[in-house]
Amino acid sequence: MNTITVNASMRYDIHIGPGLLGSLGQAVRQLGNAQKICLVSESTVFPRYGQAALDSLKDTGFSVDAFVFPAGEESKNGAVFLELLNFLAEKRLTRSDRIVALGGGVVGDLAGFAAASYLRGISFIQVPTTLLAAVDSSVGGKTAIDLPAGKNLAGAFHQPSLVLCDTDTLDSLPGDIFLDGSAEVIKYGVLYDEALFSHLEERGVAFHREAVITRCVELKRDVVALDEFDTGARMKLNLGHTVAHGIEAKSNFTISHGRAVAMGMAIITRAAVQMGLCDKGAAERIIHVLNQFGLPVSTDFSADDLYTYTLSDKKRSGGTVKLIVPREIGRCDIEPVGVEELKDWIRAGL
Ligand code: NAD
Ligand code: GLY
Repeated sequence: MNTITVNASMRYDIHIGPGLLGSLGQAVRQLGNAQKICLVSESTVFPRYGQAALDSLKDTGFSVDAFVFPAGEESKNGAVFLELLNFLAEKRLTRSDRIVALGGGVVGDLAGFAAASYLRGISFIQVPTTLLAAVDSSVGGKTAIDLPAGKNLAGAFHQPSLVLCDTDTLDSLPGDIFLDGSAEVIKYGVLYDEALFSHLEERGVAFHREAVITRCVELKRDVVALDEFDTGARMKLNLGHTVAHGIEAKSNFTISHGRAVAMGMAIITRAAVQMGLCDKGAAERIIHVLNQFGLPVSTDFSADDLYTYTLSDKKRSGGTVKLIVPREIGRCDIEPVGVEELKDWIRAGL
């Protein structure tokens, strides 16, 4: 097992390794006094891992209630959020009790936002079961629900008290969901770490799971410690995401987030070469590794369409979009780009 400690507004540990679900109860017990736990999960994950989590928590003396909602992004909404808050109130959880989020990013975001809101904030534990949740969403305290106007439009920064990543749970992930998470793993290599990137080049999808997740989490820990509230350095985690949001929206969300991020990274990288900002050899390596994983690196959407959909993204501020631009493997810069200029970037990268 590897343990990483995050030093943000709250200090907490992230445990990563196989077979950790059975020690969930003990790990939560070590956080201090609590009597009740609400285990939040969804309809795909709970039947697989819910009982092990319940048993471990009950064996260590907790009184546990489970709140299970239908799997999928469609559930990350205000109605399910309110249902969960009402459930917590009915079960009379107090400020010293805890929520355990067992699942992917949808469960973590929704349960985390409920933890941030219920009684003005109670403790929660992330137990990620997707690769994306393991390397990204379970760490750093961003919690949210979607609104009809867009994704993640209501939320809070609320750090977990503990993250417990049992890498065995990733065994049951469908290949396409694992691949979506892989796009985020590749992103960390491009952003910060040549050695991680080289390992991905050598091993492809057969990368060393525990070591790679640990490295990604270390990198995220460092960014979160530097910029917990996402006003500077943390924005780099959006590499590929600005254009990806446009691709997802234009496809009416039929193209998954991970695949859109892969296309977004490839488009920005090619554009950066055209603009003389990125080394050509580095760009070839990025495109090659995405190909090697079976991730898409181009789109049939036109530059005009992508521009329109990309501009409607909420992360735009005034007349500028902050693009994350690869310079070499392991080094990217934040490049403020005028909205008019954005079209040139997209055109250059297609
Ligand atoms: P998800 O939670 O919907 O999981 C993807 C699919 O995998 C679902 O169908 C789920 O039922 C299934 N699944 C989960 N674990 C499984 C397992 N072990 N075995 C078999 N199937 C399993 O999606 P995700 O990709 O984990 O996360 C996406 C969400 O995360 C989005 O809502 C996104 O906005 C959010 N997100 C948040 C942050 C953050 O910092 N908070 C960062 C990135 C993404
Ligand atoms: N997933 C982006 C962030 O945590 O900031």
